[in-house]
Amino acid sequence: MRSYGKEKKLRFPYVFMACCFFLAIIGFTFFNLFSQRIFSEIPIRRSVNQETRDGSVSNIPFQVLSWKPRIFYLPNFATKQQCEALINMAKPKLKPSLLAQKIGETAESIQNVRTSTGVFISADEDESGLIASIEEKIAIATRVPRDHYESFNILRYKLRQKYDSHHDVLDPAEYGAQKSQRLASFLLYLSSVEEGGETMFPFEDERNMDGSYDYMKCTGMRVKPRRGDAIFFYNLLPNGTIDERSLHGSCPVIKGEKWVATKWIRDQPYED
Ligand SMILES: *[C@@H]1O[C@H](CO)[C@@H](O)[C@H](O)[C@H]1NC(C)=O
Repeated sequence: MRSYGKEKKLRFPYVFMACCFFLAIIGFTFFNLFSQRIFSEIPIRRSVNQETRDGSVSNIPFQVLSWKPRIFYLPNFATKQQCEALINMAKPKLKPSLLAQKIGETAESIQNVRTSTGVFISADEDESGLIASIEEKIAIATRVPRDHYESFNILRYKLRQKYDSHHDVLDPAEYGAQKSQRLASFLLYLSSVEEGGETMFPFEDERNMDGSYDYMKCTGMRVKPRRGDAIFFYNLLPNGTIDERSLHGSCPVIKGEKWVATKWIRDQPYED
Protein backbone atom coordinates (compact mmCIF):
# COMPACT_ATOMS: atom_id res chain seq x y z
CA MET A 1 0.00 0.00 0.00
CA ARG A 2 2.85 2.35 0.83
CA SER A 3 4.42 1.92 -2.56
CA TYR A 4 1.08 2.84 -4.16
CA GLY A 5 1.18 6.16 -2.29
CA LYS A 6 4.69 6.82 -3.56
CA GLU A 7 3.64 6.15 -7.14
CA LYS A 8 0.81 8.63 -6.81
CA LYS A 9 3.17 11.39 -5.68
CA LEU A 10 5.52 10.68 -8.56
CA ARG A 11 2.72 11.05 -11.09
CA PHE A 12 1.97 14.69 -10.38
CA PRO A 13 5.05 16.13 -12.17
CA TYR A 14 4.35 13.94 -15.18
CA VAL A 15 0.78 15.18 -15.45
CA PHE A 16 2.03 18.74 -15.04
CA MET A 17 4.62 18.27 -17.76
CA ALA A 18 2.08 16.67 -20.06
CA CYS A 19 -0.19 19.68 -19.55
CA CYS A 20 2.65 22.09 -20.34
CA PHE A 21 3.49 20.13 -23.47
CA PHE A 22 -0.14 20.14 -24.57
CA LEU A 23 -0.44 23.90 -24.02
CA ALA A 24 2.80 24.46 -25.93
CA ILE A 25 1.40 22.57 -28.94
CA ILE A 26 -1.83 24.59 -28.85
CA GLY A 27 0.17 27.80 -28.60
CA PHE A 28 2.42 26.83 -31.49
CA THR A 29 -0.57 25.95 -33.69
CA PHE A 30 -2.21 29.34 -33.09
CA PHE A 31 1.06 31.15 -33.66
CA ASN A 32 1.39 29.41 -37.01
CA LEU A 33 -2.19 30.22 -38.00
CA PHE A 34 -1.68 33.90 -37.35
CA SER A 35 1.83 34.12 -38.71
CA GLN A 36 0.45 32.91 -42.08
CA ARG A 37 -0.92 36.41 -42.53
CA ILE A 38 2.48 37.43 -43.84
CA PHE A 39 1.74 35.43 -46.98
CA SER A 40 -1.21 37.61 -47.91
CA GLU A 41 0.53 40.92 -48.37
CA ILE A 42 -1.19 41.59 -51.66
CA PRO A 43 -4.44 43.33 -50.72
CA ILE A 44 -7.26 41.20 -52.04
CA ARG A 45 -10.77 41.30 -50.70
CA ARG A 46 -11.82 37.76 -50.01
CA SER A 47 -15.57 38.14 -50.02
CA VAL A 48 -16.93 36.83 -53.29
CA ASN A 49 -20.37 35.50 -53.96
CA GLN A 50 -20.48 31.74 -53.73
CA GLU A 51 -23.07 31.48 -56.49
CA THR A 52 -23.19 32.44 -60.15
CA ARG A 53 -26.25 34.19 -61.56
CA ASP A 54 -28.07 30.88 -62.04
CA GLY A 55 -26.90 29.60 -58.64
CA SER A 56 -25.41 26.44 -60.14
CA VAL A 57 -21.76 26.51 -59.01
CA SER A 58 -20.82 24.81 -55.82
CA ASN A 59 -17.67 22.97 -56.70
CA ILE A 60 -14.96 23.79 -59.26
CA PRO A 61 -12.36 21.03 -59.72
CA PHE A 62 -8.74 22.01 -60.30
CA GLN A 63 -5.30 20.46 -60.35
CA VAL A 64 -1.99 22.04 -59.40
CA LEU A 65 0.33 21.91 -62.43
CA SER A 66 3.27 23.71 -60.87
CA TRP A 67 4.39 25.67 -57.82
CA LYS A 68 7.23 27.43 -59.67
CA PRO A 69 5.38 29.44 -60.91
CA ARG A 70 1.98 28.68 -59.39
CA ILE A 71 -0.13 27.19 -62.21
CA PHE A 72 -3.54 25.56 -61.83
CA TYR A 73 -5.51 23.50 -64.35
CA LEU A 74 -9.31 23.74 -64.33
CA PRO A 75 -10.86 21.03 -66.50
CA ASN A 76 -14.32 21.60 -68.06
CA PHE A 77 -14.48 25.16 -66.78
CA ALA A 78 -16.81 26.20 -69.61
CA THR A 79 -19.26 24.18 -71.71
CA LYS A 80 -18.96 23.53 -75.46
CA GLN A 81 -21.91 25.89 -76.06
CA GLN A 82 -20.29 28.67 -74.01
CA CYS A 83 -17.00 28.30 -75.93
CA GLU A 84 -18.82 28.43 -79.28
CA ALA A 85 -20.81 31.48 -78.20
CA LEU A 86 -17.59 33.32 -77.23
CA ILE A 87 -15.97 32.45 -80.57
CA ASN A 88 -19.03 33.70 -82.46
CA MET A 89 -19.01 36.91 -80.45
CA ALA A 90 -15.35 37.58 -81.29
CA LYS A 91 -15.14 36.35 -84.90
CA PRO A 92 -16.61 39.41 -86.68
CA LYS A 93 -14.41 41.82 -84.70
CA LEU A 94 -10.95 40.24 -84.89
CA LYS A 95 -7.96 42.52 -85.46
CA PRO A 96 -4.21 41.78 -85.42
CA SER A 97 -3.17 41.38 -81.78
CA LEU A 98 -1.14 44.25 -80.40
CA LEU A 99 1.67 44.24 -77.89
CA ALA A 100 2.18 46.63 -75.05
CA GLN A 101 5.13 48.60 -76.40
CA LYS A 102 8.19 48.97 -74.26
CA ILE A 103 9.84 52.37 -74.10
CA GLY A 104 11.92 52.69 -77.29
CA GLU A 105 10.15 49.92 -79.22
CA THR A 106 8.18 50.53 -82.41
CA ALA A 107 5.24 48.57 -83.82
CA GLU A 108 7.54 47.35 -86.64
CA SER A 109 10.30 46.13 -84.34
CA ILE A 110 7.94 43.73 -82.56
CA GLN A 111 5.58 42.70 -85.36
CA ASN A 112 6.64 39.06 -85.48
CA VAL A 113 6.45 38.38 -81.75
CA ARG A 114 2.68 37.94 -81.63
CA THR A 115 0.94 36.91 -84.82
CA SER A 116 -2.57 36.09 -83.64
CA THR A 117 -5.70 38.15 -84.21
CA GLY A 118 -7.98 39.09 -81.34
CA VAL A 119 -10.49 41.42 -79.74
CA PHE A 120 -11.26 42.74 -76.27
CA ILE A 121 -14.84 42.14 -75.15
CA SER A 122 -16.16 43.41 -71.82
CA ALA A 123 -19.13 42.05 -69.90
CA ASP A 124 -21.00 45.32 -70.59
CA GLU A 125 -20.81 44.73 -74.34
CA ASP A 126 -22.34 41.26 -74.04
CA GLU A 127 -26.11 41.42 -73.69
CA SER A 128 -26.43 37.65 -73.34
CA GLY A 129 -24.79 37.81 -69.89
CA LEU A 130 -22.43 34.95 -70.77
CA ILE A 131 -19.23 36.93 -70.12
CA ALA A 132 -20.58 38.13 -66.77
CA SER A 133 -21.41 34.59 -65.68
CA ILE A 134 -17.96 33.27 -66.72
CA GLU A 135 -16.30 36.14 -64.84
CA GLU A 136 -18.37 35.29 -61.77
CA LYS A 137 -17.19 31.70 -61.99
CA ILE A 138 -13.57 32.89 -62.31
CA ALA A 139 -14.09 35.02 -59.19
CA ILE A 140 -15.28 31.96 -57.29
CA ALA A 141 -12.40 29.80 -58.55
CA THR A 142 -9.60 32.34 -58.00
CA ARG A 143 -11.02 34.31 -55.05
CA VAL A 144 -10.05 37.54 -56.78
CA PRO A 145 -13.14 39.73 -57.26
CA ARG A 146 -14.42 40.78 -60.69
CA ASP A 147 -13.54 44.45 -60.33
CA HIS A 148 -9.86 43.42 -60.59
CA TYR A 149 -10.37 42.02 -64.11
CA GLU A 150 -9.43 43.43 -67.48
CA SER A 151 -11.87 42.68 -70.34
CA PHE A 152 -11.58 39.29 -72.02
CA ASN A 153 -9.05 39.25 -74.82
CA ILE A 154 -10.35 36.60 -77.22
CA LEU A 155 -7.63 35.37 -79.57
CA ARG A 156 -7.42 33.22 -82.66
CA TYR A 157 -4.18 31.53 -83.74
CA LYS A 158 -4.27 30.06 -87.23
CA LEU A 159 -1.68 27.81 -88.80
CA ARG A 160 1.87 28.78 -87.68
CA GLN A 161 0.62 31.69 -85.59
CA LYS A 162 2.20 31.98 -82.15
CA TYR A 163 3.17 34.28 -79.32
CA ASP A 164 6.84 34.27 -78.30
CA SER A 165 7.65 33.88 -74.60
CA HIS A 166 6.89 36.94 -72.50
CA HIS A 167 5.78 38.06 -69.06
CA ASP A 168 2.27 39.41 -68.58
CA VAL A 169 3.41 41.82 -65.87
CA LEU A 170 4.20 45.29 -67.12
CA ASP A 171 7.53 46.15 -65.51
CA PRO A 172 7.44 49.91 -64.72
CA ALA A 173 11.13 50.13 -65.71
CA GLU A 174 10.18 49.03 -69.23
CA TYR A 175 6.57 50.17 -69.66
CA GLY A 176 6.33 53.26 -67.45
CA ALA A 177 4.42 53.70 -64.17
CA GLN A 178 1.50 51.33 -63.55
CA LYS A 179 -1.50 51.99 -61.31
CA SER A 180 -1.92 48.28 -60.71
CA GLN A 181 -0.14 45.13 -61.76
CA ARG A 182 -1.20 41.93 -63.53
CA LEU A 183 -1.26 39.64 -60.53
CA ALA A 184 -2.42 36.56 -62.43
CA SER A 185 -3.61 35.37 -65.83
CA PHE A 186 -6.59 33.17 -66.62
CA LEU A 187 -6.69 31.37 -69.99
CA LEU A 188 -9.86 29.64 -71.16
CA TYR A 189 -9.33 27.40 -74.18
CA LEU A 190 -12.26 27.78 -76.58
CA SER A 191 -11.04 25.12 -79.04
CA SER A 192 -8.99 21.96 -78.97
CA VAL A 193 -5.94 22.10 -81.23
CA GLU A 194 -5.00 18.99 -83.17
CA GLU A 195 -1.28 19.72 -83.06
CA GLY A 196 0.82 22.55 -81.63
CA GLY A 197 -0.65 25.68 -80.04
CA GLU A 198 0.37 24.64 -76.52
CA THR A 199 0.80 27.22 -73.79
CA MET A 200 4.46 26.86 -72.79
CA PHE A 201 6.25 27.80 -69.59
CA PRO A 202 9.97 27.59 -70.49
CA PHE A 203 11.15 28.58 -66.96
CA GLU A 204 8.79 26.24 -65.11
CA ASP A 205 10.58 24.58 -62.19
CA GLU A 206 13.47 26.99 -62.82
CA ARG A 207 14.61 25.24 -65.98
CA ASN A 208 16.28 27.10 -68.89
CA MET A 209 17.01 30.10 -66.68
CA ASP A 210 20.77 30.22 -67.26
CA GLY A 211 20.39 33.00 -69.83
CA SER A 212 20.68 30.73 -72.87
CA TYR A 213 16.95 30.54 -73.59
CA ASP A 214 15.86 31.65 -77.07
CA TYR A 215 12.49 33.41 -76.65
CA MET A 216 11.07 31.79 -79.79
CA LYS A 217 11.74 28.24 -78.69
CA CYS A 218 8.79 26.13 -77.68
CA THR A 219 10.08 24.28 -74.62
CA GLY A 220 9.54 23.65 -70.91
CA MET A 221 6.17 22.71 -69.46
CA ARG A 222 3.50 22.74 -72.14
CA VAL A 223 -0.28 22.68 -71.76
CA LYS A 224 -2.25 21.29 -74.68
CA PRO A 225 -5.39 23.35 -75.36
CA ARG A 226 -8.63 21.43 -74.85
CA ARG A 227 -11.97 23.10 -75.44
CA GLY A 228 -13.59 24.24 -72.18
CA ASP A 229 -10.50 23.70 -70.00
CA ALA A 230 -8.71 26.61 -68.37
CA ILE A 231 -5.40 27.43 -66.72
CA PHE A 232 -4.75 30.06 -64.09
CA PHE A 233 -1.27 31.20 -63.10
CA TYR A 234 0.35 33.89 -60.96
CA ASN A 235 2.69 36.45 -62.50
CA LEU A 236 3.60 37.91 -59.13
CA LEU A 237 5.16 36.28 -56.09
CA PRO A 238 3.20 36.50 -52.82
CA ASN A 239 5.28 39.55 -51.83
CA GLY A 240 4.22 41.39 -54.98
CA THR A 241 7.46 41.16 -56.99
CA ILE A 242 7.63 39.65 -60.47
CA ASP A 243 7.80 35.86 -60.65
CA GLU A 244 10.32 35.48 -63.48
CA ARG A 245 9.31 31.84 -63.82
CA SER A 246 5.87 32.91 -65.08
CA LEU A 247 7.43 33.51 -68.52
CA HIS A 248 5.10 31.88 -71.07
CA GLY A 249 4.15 31.83 -74.72
CA SER A 250 1.95 30.16 -77.30
CA CYS A 251 3.67 27.55 -79.46
CA PRO A 252 2.94 27.76 -83.22
CA VAL A 253 -0.22 25.98 -84.33
CA ILE A 254 0.79 23.02 -86.48
CA LYS A 255 -2.64 21.57 -87.26
CA GLY A 256 -6.06 23.05 -86.55
CA GLU A 257 -6.97 26.43 -85.11
CA LYS A 258 -6.54 27.76 -81.59
CA TRP A 259 -9.08 29.99 -79.87
CA VAL A 260 -8.43 31.21 -76.36
CA ALA A 261 -10.06 33.74 -74.05
CA THR A 262 -7.43 35.47 -71.93
CA LYS A 263 -8.17 37.42 -68.80
CA TRP A 264 -5.60 39.47 -66.93
CA ILE A 265 -6.31 39.85 -63.26
CA ARG A 266 -4.97 42.94 -61.49
CA ASP A 267 -3.74 43.20 -57.92
CA GLN A 268 -6.12 46.12 -57.35
CA PRO A 269 -9.53 47.18 -58.68
CA TYR A 270 -9.03 48.14 -62.31
CA GLU A 271 -10.59 50.72 -64.63
CA ASP A 272 -9.96 50.61 -68.35
C1 LIG B 1 10.12 38.52 -52.62
O1 LIG B 1 10.24 37.12 -52.50
C2 LIG B 1 11.30 36.55 -53.26
C3 LIG B 1 11.20 35.05 -53.16
O2 LIG B 1 11.00 34.61 -51.86
C4 LIG B 1 12.62 37.12 -52.78
O3 LIG B 1 13.67 36.57 -53.53
C5 LIG B 1 12.61 38.62 -52.93
O4 LIG B 1 13.81 39.17 -52.44
C6 LIG B 1 11.41 39.22 -52.21
N1 LIG B 1 11.35 40.63 -52.52
C7 LIG B 1 10.99 41.56 -51.63
C8 LIG B 1 10.98 42.98 -52.11
O5 LIG B 1 10.68 41.28 -50.48
